[in-house]
Amino acid sequence: MSVHQGLSVTGVSKTFQSGGRAVQALENISLGLPAGKVGVLLGPSGCGKSTLLRMIAGLEKPSDGTITLNGRAVNRPGRDRGMVFQDYSSFPWLSVRDNVAYGLKINGDRNALNEGTVDHFIRAVGLEKFADVFPHQLSGGMRQRVAIARTLANYPELLLMDEPFGALDPETRWQMQDLLLNVVRKERSTVMVVSHDIEEALYLGDVVFFLSRHPGRLRETIFTDFKSSLPQNDREAFLQSDDYRRLELHIRRLMRDEGLDAA
Ligand SMILES: Nc1ncnc2c1ncn2[C@@H]1O[C@H](COP(=O)(O)OP(=O)(O)O)[C@@H](O)[C@H]1O
Ligand SMILES: [Mg+2]
Repeated sequence: MSVHQGLSVTGVSKTFQSGGRAVQALENISLGLPAGKVGVLLGPSGCGKSTLLRMIAGLEKPSDGTITLNGRAVNRPGRDRGMVFQDYSSFPWLSVRDNVAYGLKINGDRNALNEGTVDHFIRAVGLEKFADVFPHQLSGGMRQRVAIARTLANYPELLLMDEPFGALDPETRWQMQDLLLNVVRKERSTVMVVSHDIEEALYLGDVVFFLSRHPGRLRETIFTDFKSSLPQNDREAFLQSDDYRRLELHIRRLMRDEGLDAA
């Protein structure tokens, strides 16, 4: 599958050398994520989701295969990609505003002087009342909003998120999912999220890539077109739709098979 505008992963494998032993984490992964879409890497623990995301980020090199973003080969980390990790990656000694401005400053962006960009993203994540506050004064969900605002303020061509809401309580997690969708729809961002949660994957994703493990392979690609006929930000309508129930059960069975394989 080749997508010129967007992310293309073609024939990617990854083998780690671990204690003199070769561990194949991923085998022959090919997938495409068109620009402006949200993709989710879903699968059981250890199937290689983080490894694939790190390779897309350029933090790790594939053993085989190629990755391109908007037609350019990915070989190293770059400003065209922004990463949000699970643990709130904000700087404790900087205020919310300075955290959001930080990425622009280290990249020497002239926009760093443009308070407009910083304020725009602080507003986008609903932290305008907290701009001068320090991270330790914020809840986990709010700190994660700082991380999202800081990453988006660099206008990455691709936003990468590794289980970004995994450490949050369920209610905050739901709020964050809606907030993320609202921001990325407005900014038309292209996003790849790692999740092991079926509801989260189907709620966030335009397309869900289900990976199996040992080694990680792309087992199924699931499109969530059914959501276009549902009201936005209406989780109940989503959860009660026949399509959601059918897909949830289907993926749950895939997960269960994976569990049996591992046992
Ligand atoms: N740096 C590494 N060295 C050796 N093995 C690794 C390394 N990183 C990941 N692995 C192995 O690759 C597999 C996939 O790991 P990971 O990508 O973290 O999975 P996931 O994020 O889906 O839980 C696991 O078997 C893991 O032990
Ligand atoms: Mg992981």
